[in-house]
Amino acid sequence: MINTYRLSYDYVKTDENDNITHVNRALDDISIDIKKGDFIAVLGHNGSGKSTFAKHLNALLLPGEGSVFVGGMDTAKPEYTWDIRKSTGMVFQNPDNQIIGNIVEEDVAFGLENLGLPSDEIRRRVDKSLEMVGMKEFVRSSPNKLSGGQKQRVAIAGIMAMEPACIVFDEPTAMLDPEGRREVIETARKLNKENGITIILITHYMEEIVGADKVFVMEKGRIAMQGTPREIFSKPKELKELRLTVPQVTEIGYKISAKHPEFPSPVLTVEELTEAVKKTAGRKQR
Ligand SMILES: Nc1ncnc2c1ncn2[C@@H]1O[C@H](COP(=O)(O)OP(=O)(O)O)[C@@H](O)[C@H]1O
Ligand SMILES: [Mg+2]
Repeated sequence: MINTYRLSYDYVKTDENDNITHVNRALDDISIDIKKGDFIAVLGHNGSGKSTFAKHLNALLLPGEGSVFVGGMDTAKPEYTWDIRKSTGMVFQNPDNQIIGNIVEEDVAFGLENLGLPSDEIRRRVDKSLEMVGMKEFVRSSPNKLSGGQKQRVAIAGIMAMEPACIVFDEPTAMLDPEGRREVIETARKLNKENGITIILITHYMEEIVGADKVFVMEKGRIAMQGTPREIFSKPKELKELRLTVPQVTEIGYKISAKHPEFPSPVLTVEELTEAVKKTAGRKQR
């Protein structure tokens, strides 16, 4: 679905005479493969290059060096830009900046009207997309009245209406309360499982990556770590060096295993923690 080969990107500052005054290497030699239907998480502290990377996946930015292919299309070739943008949707941090319509259905239909689709097809896609994100009952509501999580789901519906193969979420929950965060992450998981949409989720919240197929950890524009969530959270020391943590339940698990070496770490979910506690306690009693 997505391949990058030795991708690098510099933000270049120039003075009034177009002389280069500053070069900031935001991406540095990134080669990755993302398969169709994957749920990928991207971690990294502020300024590590996550958003710059995301913007390369739908040709908002073009590689300085190396290449990016989306569905086999080279993002550097202008003739593919439109198809790449249709196949890869982006959801950003601030839901308010992404809502355009005065009514939910107008908002979801916006991109479709620009495609010039017949009105019955637009109707069909708007209804189907709102259904997918669990917002059908709000079809005639004003977006202003919705919670942050609901607004993000409307933004996701607007993307789903374009029938993309892939959605890139750039810290979609950063401005939401815990309930809104849960709604958005559940929606992303559902679109991945039930509709086979390839998901790339950029986040600060360790809890949100637990269900991912693969995690990339970025640092200074490079991929510093990669693996399954379990592999990543098995290395709390390395994560700490990258100014990242493990999920709270994993942390609790590590605290228990410090005293009880037989305790199976890392645990990634509350269910795993409960199971592990039961097993460890059971063994003690025998
Ligand atoms: N428009 C820009 N102009 C100049 N530098 C930028 C711009 N956007 C980001 N950067 C710099 O590029 C680096 C990576 O930024 P970014 O991709 O936004 O990281 P992240 O999303 O992980 O916080 C940072 O050093 C940041 O300051
Ligand atoms: Mg960012």
